[in-house]
Amino acid sequence: MTRKAYIKTYGCQMNEHDTQRMHDMLKEMGYVPAETADEASVILVNTCSVRANPENKVYSFLGTLRPLKARMPDLIVGVAGCVAQQTGETLLDREPLVDFVFGPDNLFRLPEMIEAAKKGERRAWTEWQSWEGPVKEFVPDTWVEQGHVEGSKAYITITKGCNNHCAYCIVPHTRGREVSRSPESILREAHGMIDRGARELWLLGQNVNSYTGGPEYGFYELLDEVSRLDGLLRLRFTSPHPRDWNNRLADLMAERPTICKHLHLPFQAGSDAVLKAMRRRHTLEEYLDKVRYLREKIPAVEISTDLIVGFPGEKEEDFERTLYTLREVRFSQVFPFKYSTRPGTRAASLPDDVSRKEKEDRLARVIALQDKINEEAQEALVGTVQQVLIDGPHPRIPGRWNGRTDGYRSITVVADGLNPGELVDAKVTAARGHWLQADLHRP
Ligand code: SAH
Ligand code: SF4
Ligand code: F3S
Repeated sequence: MTRKAYIKTYGCQMNEHDTQRMHDMLKEMGYVPAETADEASVILVNTCSVRANPENKVYSFLGTLRPLKARMPDLIVGVAGCVAQQTGETLLDREPLVDFVFGPDNLFRLPEMIEAAKKGERRAWTEWQSWEGPVKEFVPDTWVEQGHVEGSKAYITITKGCNNHCAYCIVPHTRGREVSRSPESILREAHGMIDRGARELWLLGQNVNSYTGGPEYGFYELLDEVSRLDGLLRLRFTSPHPRDWNNRLADLMAERPTICKHLHLPFQAGSDAVLKAMRRRHTLEEYLDKVRYLREKIPAVEISTDLIVGFPGEKEEDFERTLYTLREVRFSQVFPFKYSTRPGTRAASLPDDVSRKEKEDRLARVIALQDKINEEAQEALVGTVQQVLIDGPHPRIPGRWNGRTDGYRSITVVADGLNPGELVDAKVTAARGHWLQADLHRP
């Protein structure tokens, strides 16, 4: 009988990418992916602790596994990711059904962990790894050759961890100090991925533009090299930090066709007082200057962002600066979050003094304003020709193909016989909420 493995994933692209790798390792061990948890003999939960909400979901999900484990005592349950790294042994005490817990630094030891669990060991694998040398090859050589390609898209981790100290953020605690891989290793992985069908690459890191690959070799040099690889159609990266983003990078983005004209640049808050309390180390004006320069160079560039409402001490007039920023920049996409106290962070010692109702109210005002801005922006694209990279067929309607514009808007192209990974021109015919509809454009 085929053995199956199920992985439930919460959190960011880092976690999605780690999940892909776990599936690849499990495949090597003879496990095929299961559609649902109840047909699996190994279940992994890849967790996120960035806010209370995703963390709570982890515990509810583990709760749903109790009847399964009761029926199948041989079922192996492992918890990965940021909650696992932070909670360690305590999680084993709290959740008797969990066999092992492991942090991101131990990802590649998964086969060893499963073997240990089969022998009845219950263990937390949360020790930090240290790698030799100025750059740290945290992706083992064997995996550099086998980087995961999903359709025509692939993620490459260029750094892990974060050396910033944003007051609200748990990530430096769960992912550790920032380390960068060597350019050689990244380029080798990228080459392999393109050979295996990748057309769009994403460079991943908590703060990608602080990447350091050696003396005189930073994010600019890496972006420059990767974007010139043969066979690559599109290059994206996430997330840059506004303080480390610069006009040289904007120039490179403007001149290099493969670098997508989309920047995800989290601003978090519009008020300088709040930015300071958050320890973001830049002012709103500095942020806006960088955005203005980029727009001047690339008028059609799309900029998306993250923001937090209700950070401790945020007054109504502070919050209005956040709304001002939305109107000023006109982001293509906004991911707004209610502030959530994370134990162990600097902000946890501040009074969480914006009421829940006020946070909800501010969040609703952000969403309402952004919906209006987005509607206008989508309407303005009707009639334009967009370059679309096709992801695949529409899941329900034949003769339609889903993809993304260069600026990362969702788009559906009406056409026959397209292929995933194909780059086509499409003329936008209608704006439908959060996606665009288009016809194939043949000049
Ligand atoms: N490394 C990325 C962000 C990772 S976390 C970066 O710096 O851009 C993703 C987003 O979650 C952050 O941008 C922030 O908006 C939000 N976030 C992080 N900690 C939070 C907290 N304690 N409460 C609410 N939102 C938070
Ligand atoms: Fe967190 Fe700030 Fe690092 Fe992003 S840059 S992961 S928000 S500490
Ligand atoms: Fe969450 Fe960890 Fe990513 S806390 S956002 S999964 S780095």
